[in-house]
Amino acid sequence: MTQTDLISIHDLSPDEVEEILALAVRIKQDPARHRTALAHQTLAMIFEKPSLRTRVSFEAGMTQLGGHAIYLGPSDISMGKRESVPDIARTLEGMADGIMARTFSHRAIVDLARHASIPVINGLSDFLHPCQALADFLTIRERLGRTKGVTVAYVGDGNNVAHSLMYAGAKLGARVRVATPEKYEPSAEVVANARQDARLTGGSIEVGRDLQAAVAGADVIYTDTWASMGQEAEHDARVAVFRPFQVNAAVMRQAAKGALFMHCLPAHRGEEVTGEVIESAASVVFPQATNRLHAQKAVLVLLMGERRPARRTRPAAGRGRSAAGRRKRSGGRSRR
Ligand code: CP
Ligand code: NVA
Repeated sequence: MTQTDLISIHDLSPDEVEEILALAVRIKQDPARHRTALAHQTLAMIFEKPSLRTRVSFEAGMTQLGGHAIYLGPSDISMGKRESVPDIARTLEGMADGIMARTFSHRAIVDLARHASIPVINGLSDFLHPCQALADFLTIRERLGRTKGVTVAYVGDGNNVAHSLMYAGAKLGARVRVATPEKYEPSAEVVANARQDARLTGGSIEVGRDLQAAVAGADVIYTDTWASMGQEAEHDARVAVFRPFQVNAAVMRQAAKGALFMHCLPAHRGEEVTGEVIESAASVVFPQATNRLHAQKAVLVLLMGERRPARRTRPAAGRGRSAAGRRKRSGGRSRR
C-alpha cells in the first residue's frame, strides 16, 4: 500500500485494491491472528450524519485489532462551526493514530487528510463511499468466485454509493452498468475517471437511463436509497421520479440466473426495493453489511499497522509536534 489515506478508490492502484480485499479475506478467516495488529492505537471517528454499519464496524473493528475507537458525533465537535477542519486535524493527530470521517462535504475529508499527519479514512461523504464499495466487491467475490468480468447493474440514484461502486468495479475489472433517471446521473467526472481506470483492468462502465438494458443478464442488481442523508426534504419528489427504478421481482427476473441482490442499507422497502426482493434468496444484504467489518479491518491494518506507508512531510508551518504525528511523518512505528 502506498496510499496514506483512503479518500477515494480512484486514488488506489488495482493492486492496492486487490491487496485490501486479500487481507480482508485473511482477517475474516483468522481474526485471532490480527488481534494485536493495532494494539493501543486510537481511531477518532467524526460523524456529521447518522450511521449504524459504519460506526459499529469501525468501532468493533478497532476493538478486534487491539485498539480503540472514539465516537465524535455532530454535537460533539460541530466540524467547521465550533472549530475549523485544519484545527481539528492538528488536534487529533496529537492524540489519535487515525481519523475516520463521515461528512456532508467531500472537501471536508480531503481537507482533514491534507492537514492531519495521521491516516484519514472516508466513512462516506456526499460524493463517495469507498469503504462500502470494498465490502461490496468482497461480497461479490465471495459469492460469485470472481470480480473480473462480473456484471454489476446499479439502478436508482447516481449518488455516493454509485460513484464508489463504479470506481471499485473499474479497478477490479468488473462491468458496471448504471441506470438512473434524467438529472440524477452520476458525476461526469467519476464516469470519465472510472472509464479510464477500467481500461487498465478490462472492466467497463456504462451509464444510461434504461433500467431494462442495465439489468438484462446482470450478475448483481444493486440499489440504494432514493433520498440520501441530507436530501430528506426532497424525499417525496424523488419517490415520484424514481418509482420506475424500483428493484422488484420482475426486475430480478431479467438478471442472470443466480444473480445477487445488493444494497448498502439502510433500505426502504416499497421504495427502491420491494420487501419480497430484499427478503429473497438472491439477497445478500446482511453478509454484505458484515463484510464492512472485514474490509475495513484490512484498511485499518494497511493504513495504521506496522507496515503502513511513510506519511508525506507536510510543508505547512505551525503543525502540532505530537508523538503520533512524528511517528507518521517518519514512517516509524512506536507502540504506546
Ligand atoms: N451502509 C452504510 O454506510 O450504513 P450506515 O449509514 O448505517 O453506516
Ligand atoms: N446514499 C446513502 C448511503 C447511506 C449508507 C446516503 O448517503 O445517505
